[in-house]
Amino acid sequence: MAEMETTQFDAELSLFKYDNLEQLPANYRDLGLDERTERIEAALAELSDDIVILGHNYQRKEIVDHADFIGDSYQLSKEAAAADADYVVFGGVTFMAESADIITDDDQSVILPSMEASCPMAGMAEALQVDTAWAEITGATDERIIPITYMNSYADLKAFCAEQGGLVCTSSNAHKAFEYAFEKGDKVLFLPDKHLGENTAHRLGMQDEIVTWDPWDPQGTAPADAAANDIILWDGYCQVHERFQKSHIERLRQERPDAGVVVHPECRREVVEAADIVGSTSTIIDTVEAADPGDTWAIGTEVHLANHLARWNPDVEVLPLCGDACMDCDAMRQIDPNYLTWVLEELVEGRERNVIEVAPEEKQLARVAIDRMLEI
Ligand code: 13P
Ligand code: SF4
Repeated sequence: MAEMETTQFDAELSLFKYDNLEQLPANYRDLGLDERTERIEAALAELSDDIVILGHNYQRKEIVDHADFIGDSYQLSKEAAAADADYVVFGGVTFMAESADIITDDDQSVILPSMEASCPMAGMAEALQVDTAWAEITGATDERIIPITYMNSYADLKAFCAEQGGLVCTSSNAHKAFEYAFEKGDKVLFLPDKHLGENTAHRLGMQDEIVTWDPWDPQGTAPADAAANDIILWDGYCQVHERFQKSHIERLRQERPDAGVVVHPECRREVVEAADIVGSTSTIIDTVEAADPGDTWAIGTEVHLANHLARWNPDVEVLPLCGDACMDCDAMRQIDPNYLTWVLEELVEGRERNVIEVAPEEKQLARVAIDRMLEI
């Protein structure tokens, strides 16, 4: 693992961790739906048991239609761990493919079809930047701080958390990760999503113990003031989920008092408070699947999932919570089905493209942080 500098660093904060990933060749750019579907199916038939395709719930229809497993990031990490195929093709974003590489065997290759599928929130907490903050905050207290990083982070940060006695969590088990951390230590540094952290603190009745640490504001919270709180939240966020406002729910309650509201915990606190149910993408799916015919649910998460739910549950009325203003995730959208066709046909020819390979020393430690999560 790269040596951390605890006093100063000169790292370029970048969205793209893997600059060796390749762009789509020109002859794949204009494939039509029918030709593409035929070619993907032919390649999959050829590759047979050698390949498994994982599709996150936010992927577009043309990707999930070809996925062996569709799920949230926790479910997909478990599917990756269970897969014994030579190739795991990840319909998701870089941090998910990295996590798959960390938990699969060394002789399995994890492929991310497009190089540009990088979650901006994961890029908001660079390991070197966190290391600097860590030195400042831990230097201001004698109490033990345990770092927890959301799955939406890069492998080097997961490795850092493992080294410091911490772990990884997803949106479905963040509360359990906090409980684990408070058994081992006195305080939590939660990275990178302040909203998931705040919503989890409320769930545990610890809402009066929170402080936000803004790494970009040198005049911000003093280390001693941060360390005086039990829960220190890194100031990261997801722009797709920050878009939802309490006013969207208020308007819906007026116009459609019959509708239920289910939102993701990456939404702001006031949105979560105004909703009926909060949970991971799989909780959102379960909520709609459990609805009675004729029920209406408004969905506060990435718009592709709302569209899938409407298609998968024709008896239920599914509404995107903020209507046309709901966003798709720009990072998830980069997994274009033409890229999928290309990486699959290359595999048929024996060539592996866009392989995500975490450095061995990071991989070992990041695995510890993920295993701690899988055990809670
Ligand atoms: P889930 O963990 O609910 O799948 O969410 C992942 C994500 O990226 C949400 O924005
Ligand atoms: Fe990242 Fe938000 Fe996209 Fe999830 S929806 S992958 S958190 S940018």
